[in-house]
Amino acid sequence: MSVNVERYHQNENSSFICSVRAFVPAFCLVVAFCIGYKGYLETRINTPFDKLKVVHKTSLSVPDRYWGSYRPYVYFGMKTRDPYSLVTGMMWYYPSKIQKGEDIRHWCEQNDYLKGYTWTEHDGRNFGIQIINDDDIKITTSFVKKLHGNFGGDWTARISFNSANKIVNETVSLLLYTAIENQTVGYIKPKRYGIMSATGYTEGLGEFRIKIKNITQSVIHESYLFTKCSSLNVIKETILNNFHLLHFNRERLFVFTKNLYSINSESNLIVTQLIFKIPFDVDVIFESSSAFRQETLTGDLYTAELNKNKKLFNDNFEKTFKLDSKKFNMDEIKFAKAAFSNLIGGIGYFYGASQVLSKYTSSPVPYWKAPLYTAVPSRSFFPRGFLWDEGFHGLVIAVWDLDIELDIISHWFDLMNVEGWIPREQILGAEALSRVPSEFVTQINTNANPPVFFLTLSFILQNFEEQLIEQSSRLETLDRLYNRLVAWFDWFNNTQIGIIPGTYRWRGRDSNTNKELNPKTLTSGFDDYPRASHPTDEEMHLDLRCWIAYSAATIVKVSKLLNKPYSRFAETALYLSDNFLLDQHHWSETHELYADYGLHTDEIILFNIHDKNANHHMERKVLKSPVFRLVDSTFGYNSLFPFILHLLDPESPKLEIIFKKLRDPKLLWTDFGIRSLSKNSPLYMKYNTEYDPPYWRGSIWININYLIIKSLKYYSNGSGPYSTKAKILYQELRKNIITNVFKEYNRTGYLWEHYNDITGHGEGSRPFTGWTSLVLLIMGEIF
Ligand SMILES: *[C@@H]1O[C@H](CO)[C@@H](O)[C@H](O)[C@H]1NC(C)=O
Ligand SMILES: *[C@@H]1O[C@H](CO)[C@@H](O)[C@H](O)[C@H]1NC(C)=O
Ligand SMILES: *[C@@H]1O[C@H](CO)[C@@H](O)[C@H](O)[C@H]1NC(C)=O
Ligand SMILES: *[C@@H]1O[C@H](CO)[C@@H](O)[C@H](O)[C@H]1NC(C)=O
Ligand SMILES: *[C@@H]1O[C@H](CO)[C@@H](O)[C@H](O)[C@H]1NC(C)=O
Ligand SMILES: *[C@@H]1O[C@H](CO)[C@@H](O)[C@H](O)[C@H]1NC(C)=O
Repeated sequence: MSVNVERYHQNENSSFICSVRAFVPAFCLVVAFCIGYKGYLETRINTPFDKLKVVHKTSLSVPDRYWGSYRPYVYFGMKTRDPYSLVTGMMWYYPSKIQKGEDIRHWCEQNDYLKGYTWTEHDGRNFGIQIINDDDIKITTSFVKKLHGNFGGDWTARISFNSANKIVNETVSLLLYTAIENQTVGYIKPKRYGIMSATGYTEGLGEFRIKIKNITQSVIHESYLFTKCSSLNVIKETILNNFHLLHFNRERLFVFTKNLYSINSESNLIVTQLIFKIPFDVDVIFESSSAFRQETLTGDLYTAELNKNKKLFNDNFEKTFKLDSKKFNMDEIKFAKAAFSNLIGGIGYFYGASQVLSKYTSSPVPYWKAPLYTAVPSRSFFPRGFLWDEGFHGLVIAVWDLDIELDIISHWFDLMNVEGWIPREQILGAEALSRVPSEFVTQINTNANPPVFFLTLSFILQNFEEQLIEQSSRLETLDRLYNRLVAWFDWFNNTQIGIIPGTYRWRGRDSNTNKELNPKTLTSGFDDYPRASHPTDEEMHLDLRCWIAYSAATIVKVSKLLNKPYSRFAETALYLSDNFLLDQHHWSETHELYADYGLHTDEIILFNIHDKNANHHMERKVLKSPVFRLVDSTFGYNSLFPFILHLLDPESPKLEIIFKKLRDPKLLWTDFGIRSLSKNSPLYMKYNTEYDPPYWRGSIWININYLIIKSLKYYSNGSGPYSTKAKILYQELRKNIITNVFKEYNRTGYLWEHYNDITGHGEGSRPFTGWTSLVLLIMGEIF
């Protein structure tokens, strides 16, 4: 329960006491007040923080980032940073192989089993090149933008199909579509420019045309569809409903047959299907009528423009990350570019309203509709905004383009409500919503997530303070952000507080479960990482305390830069990083490690229960009563937080102990990175329920390894007694991470969500060019 809420409760009680003693009219007033007050509590959750938004320039006020590949969840598609944008996209399939709708490639799906797909070069603004390896077929999608006119300019995309091994002679069907949502003000209609293409008008784009042009080869069959599509998430279904079987040149083809379109004001989807043999190149050319151009951006002109952008990108990449001068080889640099490009090329623009729930709302209510400009953890599996991930993405993005990152942070902070809360998973718009199981949609306002944007800001201040200061617009952004940073901090410091002063507790654990071996702590970002076996209010979470200390220290830095008073933050930072107090609450003398505290027993098992019908399920069984204690049989990422977030004094002898344990292969050390949970912990690699495989119970995660490497660097600086040891570990760990993530990319075609601590193999979802792309900063030694 939050401190704020407690205060309101007191108010309610005192008004009740008044009412008993009061006269009837006063009583009525109080009742009215109480009803009004209840309404007030109900609506707090979806009341914005205030009217002064941090984002003050968007859509057409940022013309150079108006258009982009902002649909990361499709293999390729363009849209604008507008709530109801025109969208374009592509699908493809092989007529000889198609059996069902799933055989048509559209959304990034793990079950398509592509050998790999990634942006190999992408600058977040002007151009991008993506390579998709679909078995033996290599598809390249690239685009180049040209900024002129009044509506964000033109762009051309080139889609090339090639055989990787020159053996196949495959027929391919490519579906190119243009669509608007029913809320978009404007229209689109088919228009033939050689191949049937599109023209139209929208409020956000003015008049425009889209021309499709085959560049190198003949089209075997062309057909098109112009129809109504009820929502963007059913474009493929709409296409399937309009396919007709046609026998053509001894091949079975699915084509659209309605070649005469009726002008229907409701039609909002145009699809052109081109059937051809590979190799094949097609240009899709978007032209704004507001711009004057001498030549169409296609053919050789396009190739030249693409190469120009490529060169700029590659020069800038070396200037920024210096991998060549650090003696990485060509394959490694290519890999680093792919890791980077798929992160920045995976930035999306979403618009919609989350579903949120507070203790005052009887059921989930919609948040206000808002845009979100954000990177995504995984284009296939997590193609939407995740707060905890985004702070890490921001480290990579800020190095490349500080303004993009400040804009992303600004969008996230505009999602703050009047309580100072920001929902942690952002599922905005029909396309995003259609990919999330319903039980995960609702966001609850007592639940936190690590305040990781303080890490991003601290990183920016440390590495790019000059860049911040040299442009007034950047400082102004920070200035607009400031109140929200403070409110966010206060929200954590008030709502996630522990019973004992100076201690903190993640909310949202289930204390009634009889299924989970150890009730999950989703809010901590470490999901199933073991905590106290019996959640209670007395619990004290080590990582959260360190986050709060780190956050307070970061506000101090930001305040100094902006000349704001900061004494209360400095006091809290100092208080929470007092190593003596920290040890008092969290250091275990017996096991020599930092730990959570709570009602805990290690003697819990998952136990088979058989019912009358001979069905069985598993339940948790407590073999020994829990007691209040440190959870010090568990050693892993959480235990490292005083070191990870630099709370430990460089002179602290605890460092030596931590380094020794870190380097011990029987505990955390592997040749592939630091595992999340020590091998000797009771829940190492244990299923949490019958169905929940271990997640943060042994696997190697790159975001935390990045932080560990960063801290090793931090403690290796200067003359502390442990700096030499830190330096050695720094070099070893850095090498292990780079080697393994690269090796796995070469072996599998992907960066992965986490890595197996025994084999080093990539596991979980793929491609995971969210925080796994931090490998780039590890290579470039940018901390
Ligand atoms: C590809 O297939 C076409 C007919 O389907 C055939 O005419 C052509 O010779 C084939 N080309 C190769 C290189 O096999
Ligand atoms: C417009 O789209 C919304 C959201 O998908 C839907 O609820 C609504 O019914 C649509 N309106 C029309 C007129 O199709
Ligand atoms: C494009 O395809 C058409 C047939 O659909 C063909 O006549 C034309 O030559 C092709 N253009 C190029 C540049 O290959
Ligand atoms: C955080 O909360 C504690 C406990 O309520 C309080 O003493 C401290 O002043 C707060 N810190 C800040 C920066 O407000
Ligand atoms: C290392 O120490 C020097 C001097 O004390 C300081 O200027 C520098 O910022 C430090 N670097 C890191 C990574 O902490
Ligand atoms: C990539 O993997 C292949 C085998 O799959 C191997 O021959 C090659 O040496 C590897 N490349 C690098 C740079 O490790």
